[in-house]
Amino acid sequence: MPTSDHIIELSVIVPTYNEHPNVIPMIESLEQALGDHKWEVIFVDDDSPDGTAKQIREIARRDPRVRIVQRVGRRGLSSAAIEGILASSAPFCAVIDGDLQHDEKLLATMLETIKKEDLDIVSGSRYVEGGGLGDWHKSRARISRLATRLSQAVLHAELTDPMSGFFMIRRSTFEKRMHNLSGIGFKILLDIFASSKEPLRYRELPYEFRTRQAGESKLDSQAAWEYFMLLLDKLIGHIVPVRFVAFTLVGGVGVIVHMFTVWLMLNHMDTTFTIAQTTATLIAMTSNFAMNNILTYRDMRLRGWDWIKGWISFTLACSVGALGNIGIATYIFAQDTTWVLASLSGIIVGAVWNYAVTSVYTWNKPKAA
Ligand code: GDD
Ligand code: MN
Repeated sequence: MPTSDHIIELSVIVPTYNEHPNVIPMIESLEQALGDHKWEVIFVDDDSPDGTAKQIREIARRDPRVRIVQRVGRRGLSSAAIEGILASSAPFCAVIDGDLQHDEKLLATMLETIKKEDLDIVSGSRYVEGGGLGDWHKSRARISRLATRLSQAVLHAELTDPMSGFFMIRRSTFEKRMHNLSGIGFKILLDIFASSKEPLRYRELPYEFRTRQAGESKLDSQAAWEYFMLLLDKLIGHIVPVRFVAFTLVGGVGVIVHMFTVWLMLNHMDTTFTIAQTTATLIAMTSNFAMNNILTYRDMRLRGWDWIKGWISFTLACSVGALGNIGIATYIFAQDTTWVLASLSGIIVGAVWNYAVTSVYTWNKPKAA
């Protein structure tokens, strides 16, 4: 049996994507902050192209406190944090960004607080007395405050900073909720609180959000979409799959593209209804595929040749639905109904078929790690 000095009390989970320049400074700052605690750091790297994983592995070979989980074929800050905690056996886990923007010196206080007050979670907050946003861009701060207000709809707690990616959680608390987590997007703390039926015992400690030392933020425009998906999942995920909602929203745009194309071809290109409906169906299919690829299935987004192959598979999978769409629409149009009603009827028939088939064949389930 290992001696007691091997028993890890705290695993620090660090999700990374292109953080090569920050790895050594991060480990050094953890060493200073947690010196005499029994700690380990588990980096969860999503196959960063800048060689982050290789660099961590070289350090981990010499230092048993440094570990790495390298994920291939999927991305996401929240799911990375979840898998990091699952890779740990310590009674306490902390999640902290790998770019030194969170104040690692707070970790020792978090550990002391979570044990002494027998809490479920201790999180870092930029918005309690003593906290701050550093020189965070005003627009980011505004978005963060808006997101915080929106989150109140799904939160069962008065958190001042539910957007915080910096917190410590008791393993038993996590294990009770891990099967309800959405794991979508960036906001793991919000996911945990929104997945908790009984109230969580928590405390927020102030910290000053620091300027990023190197590399750049990955919080891109899609993060807003994923945040919207996370809120939806918490609000109605138990009724309809959020992916279907996203698919329908994207399909809604496809309907507009479709109807505009039919109107254009009937009124300005003097074609038959069937030609117009067929062309519109193909154009709408392509627009749906492109939007679903960057939004609904972002975590499994296809690129390059895979995009072309995905488009072919999507079009083939939708072709039966498209034939049903065009057949039904042409038949209804022939019964002297308006082209709008005929076109819409065809679209509805096609949409249900397309969702069922493409979520199986085009965007298959994420590859196992
Ligand atoms: N594994 C993995 N996969 N890590 C990721 C991914 C990903 O897809 N995207 C980002 N990361 C890592 C980054 O490498 C960094 O270590 C950390 O997650 C935060 O990413 P940033 O891109 O630096 O986020 P930010 O600084 O704009 O916002 C952060 O701080 C806010 C305030 O706490 C995030 O943690 C936000 O969620 C948080 O609200
Ligand atoms: Mn950052």
